[in-house]
Amino acid sequence: MSRNYHETKRILVTGGAGFLGSHLCDRLLEQGHEVICLDNFFTGRRGNVAHLLQHPNFELMRHDVTFPLFIEVDEIYNLACPASPIHYQHDPVQTTKTSVHGAINMLGLAKRLGAKILQASTSEVYGDPDVHPQTEEYWGRVNPIGPRSCYDEGKRCAETLFFDYHRQHGLKIKVARIFNTYGPRMHPADGRVVSNFIVQALRGEPITLYGSGEQTRSFCYVDDLIDGLMRLMNSPDEVTGPVNIGNPGEFSMRQLAELVKEQTGSASELVFHPLPADDPKQRRPDIGKAQALLGWAPRVPLAEGLAPTIDYFRSAI
Ligand SMILES: NC(=O)c1ccc[n+]([C@@H]2O[C@H](COP(=O)([O-])OP(=O)(O)OC[C@H]3O[C@@H](n4cnc5c(N)ncnc54)[C@H](O)[C@@H]3O)[C@@H](O)[C@H]2O)c1
Repeated sequence: MSRNYHETKRILVTGGAGFLGSHLCDRLLEQGHEVICLDNFFTGRRGNVAHLLQHPNFELMRHDVTFPLFIEVDEIYNLACPASPIHYQHDPVQTTKTSVHGAINMLGLAKRLGAKILQASTSEVYGDPDVHPQTEEYWGRVNPIGPRSCYDEGKRCAETLFFDYHRQHGLKIKVARIFNTYGPRMHPADGRVVSNFIVQALRGEPITLYGSGEQTRSFCYVDDLIDGLMRLMNSPDEVTGPVNIGNPGEFSMRQLAELVKEQTGSASELVFHPLPADDPKQRRPDIGKAQALLGWAPRVPLAEGLAPTIDYFRSAI
C-alpha cells in the first residue's frame, strides 16, 4: 500500500534543479504532491527552483546520486545526469558514474520502499541510427569508445539495470527515451543547438552550424515533455517502456537557425564549422507507442514554443 492514503504522494525528483527537473517539480506541486528535489548542482541551478523554496510541499536537498540515499518516498523520477555534450564530456567518468551508480542507488531505494521509479533515458541510446524514424524496438548504433559514449553507454546500462530490477525483483519501472527538448530554464551555456542559436542571435553573433547544416533534429517543447513523463509514470504497471517521448516534427539545423533569426529579429549571419565526432545525421522519434499506451502526443509546434524560450533567454543573458 502507498505510504499515503489519498492521491497525494511524496515524490523524489533527482536532478530536480535542472532544466526538465524544475518544470517537473512545478507540475507535481500543482497537482498537490509533496516534492523532494534532489540535486548536486553540477548543471542545475538554485535559481530554477527559487520560486518553489517557500512552497510548503517542496524540499530542496543537495545530494549526489552516486552515493546511496535513505529517505521515504512513493515515487522516484530519476533525471539526475548532465544532458548536454559540453557538460557530460567535462568529466566523462563522473557522467558514467552518475548514470550507472545513480541508477543502482535509486533502484535500490525504490526496491527498499516498493516505490515506482521512472528513468529519464535518451534518444542517444539509438546512437547514429541507421533506422529512421527510431522505434523502441531498434537497438541502436552506438560507438562504445567515443567521446559521447560516457553518456550514451551510461544511459544504455541504466536501462539494463532498470529492466533487470524489474525482472529480478519485480520493481515497478518506467523508462522514457527523451528526444531533444527545449524551453525556458535551459542552461544558456549548455552548447545545445536551440540555446546556442538563440543566445548567438540575441547577441548578434554569428550562428554556428556544423557540417552543411542539413542534419535534422526534432524538438519537443518542455511542457509537452513533462506531460509525457507524468503520463508514463501514471500508466498501468505493465507499461514499463521504453517509450519514446519527443516531437516527430523534423527540422534541419539550417531551418532552425532561420526560424530563430526571424523570431529574434536578429541580423546574425550563419557560419559553418566541421561536424563533431559521432554527431548523428538524423534523429526523429516514432511516437506510436506513446500515442497508443499513454494517449500522448506533443501539442506545441516549434514556432510556438520558441517564443517563450526566446523571452526567457532575453532575460537570462
Ligand atoms: N533536455 C533534453 O533534451 C534531454 C534529452 C534526453 C534526455 N534527457 C535527460 O533528462 C534528464 C534531465 O535533463 P536536463 O535537460 O534537465 O539536463 P540538466 O543538466 O539541466 O539537468 C540535470 C540535473 O541533474 C543534476 N545532476 C547531474 N549529476 C548529478 C549527480 N551525480 N547527482 C545529483 N544530481 C546530478 C544536475 O545538477 C542538473 O540539475 C537527464 O537525465 C538527461 O539525460 C534530456
